[in-house]
Amino acid sequence: MERVITVFKGDGIGPEITDCVLDILRAAKAPLSFEIFDVGEAEWRRNGALIPDAAYASFDRNRVLLKSPITTPIGHGFRSLNVTLRKKYDLYANIRPARSSRAVRTPFPQVDMVIFRENTEDLYVGEEEQIDADTVHAKKIITRGASSRIIRDAFAYARAHGRKKVTCIHKANILKLSDGLFLDIFNQIAAEYPDIEHDDKIIDNTCMQMVMNPGQFDVMVMPNLYGDLLSDLASGLIGGLGLLPSSNLGTDYAMFEAVHGSAPDIAGKGIANPTALLWSACMMLEYLGEMDCAANIRRAVDQVLNQGVCLTPDLHGAATTAEYRDAIIAAL
Ligand code: NAI
Repeated sequence: MERVITVFKGDGIGPEITDCVLDILRAAKAPLSFEIFDVGEAEWRRNGALIPDAAYASFDRNRVLLKSPITTPIGHGFRSLNVTLRKKYDLYANIRPARSSRAVRTPFPQVDMVIFRENTEDLYVGEEEQIDADTVHAKKIITRGASSRIIRDAFAYARAHGRKKVTCIHKANILKLSDGLFLDIFNQIAAEYPDIEHDDKIIDNTCMQMVMNPGQFDVMVMPNLYGDLLSDLASGLIGGLGLLPSSNLGTDYAMFEAVHGSAPDIAGKGIANPTALLWSACMMLEYLGEMDCAANIRRAVDQVLNQGVCLTPDLHGAATTAEYRDAIIAAL
């Protein structure tokens, strides 16, 4: 039976890569139908709302969202739409798999890590206070409830996917109470998974280790801010932001999006790499239980990447988004 999903087209390269991904999903005969909405800065300029009510209502109904990047207008008192969506739908688990591809020229061929980023608290609660003209305080919130569920999800994922190790990333040497709580909970939950190795690393050391020896990392779990930073670092290791997908999962809702932003510098040029959004769509298919369809698309993408003749400029190729899409559809 066809499953209806909500699609947000976003800003910048968002509409181009969304159209491309929907073409590939249709060509792969994914059993999906789409309710498609313009959202983001351009929509706000046209109609005064970043996300129209009808788009929210669609996600409320369908509970699964494929989302393109949105430009966060600077100033105007805007809060990031992504942070808003994650909070509104309690999408607490941000899962970002980063794996080296043979196709991509990178000195790091051994990367195969999955980052579990807590998505609802830490410094991202956005509670800042002007103490006086020269002083601002920002709140970092860590709770047992939010930490436990993301850490438990990381261990459950490791077990379900035959992964060997879960590493907790923190700065508990300095943030003894907040990151200290996260680390304590990690060690408690690790004891429930004796079949999975576990260790922990301080965030600064982790940055160095990820560059020197990225192959040592498997599943990693961490508070919000460190997850944001390390996933961009991971994308640099594997060849750029065009290759990093993500899922944002809650108990009742799920949102799938590329990690990258709206890339205004290349918007409209027809050269954006749609792979990150396409792999996010594969994570969505897997979430919906459509394993064969997802595997078919992943195989076609691997084939095109490994052939190396039809790559977008971010991967040192000369192909347009449309040529890359056509190569994947031909490989399906
Ligand atoms: P960005 O991720 O949009 O771009 C960084 C660099 O990577 C640029 O040089 C861009 O051309 C390149 N790049 C990104 N995605 C690419 C792709 N698919 N193919 C080829 N090259 C790609 O980050 P930036 O410039 O800091 O942010 C631009 C806007 O995006 C901002 O308004 C920001 O708030 C927003 N943003 C939205 C996100 C979302 O909606 N999930 C996430 C991150 C940023």
